[in-house]
Amino acid sequence: MFGKRTGTPAPAAKPPPPASAPEPLVAVVEAPASPAVREIAAETATLFGGTDQRYAEVKQKIFAALVEAVDLTALGKLNATQVREEIADIVGEIIAMRSIVLSATEQQKIVGDICNDVLGLGPLEPLVARDDIADIMVNGAERVFIETAGKVQLTDIRFRDNAQLMNICQRIVAAVGRRVDEASPICDARLADGSRVNVIAPPCAIDGPALTIRKFKKEKLTLAKLVSFGSISPQGSRLLEVIGNCRLNCIVSGGTGSGKTTLLNCLTAYIDKTERVITCEDTAELQLQQPHVVRLETRPPNLEGAGQITMRDLVRNCLRMRPERIIVGEVRGSEAFDLLQAMNTGHDGSMGTIHANTPREAISRIENMIAMGGFTLPAKTVREQIASAVHVIVQAARLRDGSRKITHITEVLGMEGDVVTLQDLFTFEIYGEDSSGRIVGEHKPSGLRPSFWDRAKYFGKERELSEALGT
Ligand SMILES: Nc1ncnc2c1ncn2[C@@H]1O[C@H](COP(=O)(O)OP(=O)(O)O)[C@@H](O)[C@H]1O
Ligand SMILES: [Mg+2]
Repeated sequence: MFGKRTGTPAPAAKPPPPASAPEPLVAVVEAPASPAVREIAAETATLFGGTDQRYAEVKQKIFAALVEAVDLTALGKLNATQVREEIADIVGEIIAMRSIVLSATEQQKIVGDICNDVLGLGPLEPLVARDDIADIMVNGAERVFIETAGKVQLTDIRFRDNAQLMNICQRIVAAVGRRVDEASPICDARLADGSRVNVIAPPCAIDGPALTIRKFKKEKLTLAKLVSFGSISPQGSRLLEVIGNCRLNCIVSGGTGSGKTTLLNCLTAYIDKTERVITCEDTAELQLQQPHVVRLETRPPNLEGAGQITMRDLVRNCLRMRPERIIVGEVRGSEAFDLLQAMNTGHDGSMGTIHANTPREAISRIENMIAMGGFTLPAKTVREQIASAVHVIVQAARLRDGSRKITHITEVLGMEGDVVTLQDLFTFEIYGEDSSGRIVGEHKPSGLRPSFWDRAKYFGKERELSEALGT
């Protein structure tokens, strides 16, 4: 079987073991001192003083020798650690045998890069390993952008060409049993660490494959962290705690990357341990700490276009699972109707996120989703449903300086005529910019008494609520 070789592997500086060593699992091609090898040796001599271009060329040649020497399909049967060990050994042998002059550090770098090419994400690997990156955006082989600390910046990372990039895209999606090519150029996937991936390939993407990775953060942000970042004031965070404790139905609204999922995750921290919670997501991102949680995930259609499980399927099924709270990662379509039903039928404390820029817009988005879902209900009826189902809308926003703030904590009061009435309990007021372009502002309670006061009293949270609102 293809495994770790027996016997001690030769140190890089010494010649490799004789070819008659007992059953070598990988046949290393013997080609000492061929002209090509002398060429590699000559190039590596000046390698690290030279340009990136030369480094790439030498690496490419060592890589080519590796491909000749190893049965790459056999490697595919091993796990990542084993493959890395194998490759490190073989590359060591190639380098030793062909008298390529490399220091230990240089050799390590080459081995690392080759491993990344063979199994990992190639040039993206160092970015994926970094914890401070929120998003990685690849626009064809030549341009890789990252977002760190709310700012988008261009990196100096490049792919050899679009073919290498496409190869890596294919490897990523193949790992979750999907395929991306000209025939089906759009694909969602997930990295092993949970990061979300989207690939759109030519011909739909005009300048080469576009790969977007939303990095999965192991350490989810907590409300305390959001307070320390200034995303919300201490008082505002206490109000959110009360909202979670008192089982209010809650919608988190915000733009892409504004921190909706993060906020939803924070709110779930205040769910009681005894409650049965069911989460529905497109990609499991939420990390609930409670013991009684069932996590559900949608499924895209397979290559034949069959077998899709939609968010609506999940939410409807949820209702038959005796949930106490339902949490929908992202409400995008007709499942809005089912979530409202759930909220209106005793599953208090249900939550979801919606893509909208203001609390008012969140309401009209829900209305539109229901209208588009083919329900023929009069607009007023839909609004009444919304007004009675949703208690609170928390608005998240990414401001123009890159900072993320909770800009509104807004209560849904009811209906006045045809209009849903809203009341802000907390808002972020912008005063201006400081000299470094950072937005200066303050979270302020509106001073209004929330209509859920009695409910807070019922849950024994009256004092917390009055502290949070500064009354
Ligand atoms: N208040 C915040 N301050 C700093 N970073 C945040 C904040 N909220 C979220 N983030 C980070 O922003 C990124 C996007 O957050 P996420 O909650 O996934 O956004 P959304 O669900 O709105 O698309 C994540 O990397 C997250 O860790
Ligand atoms: Mg999200």
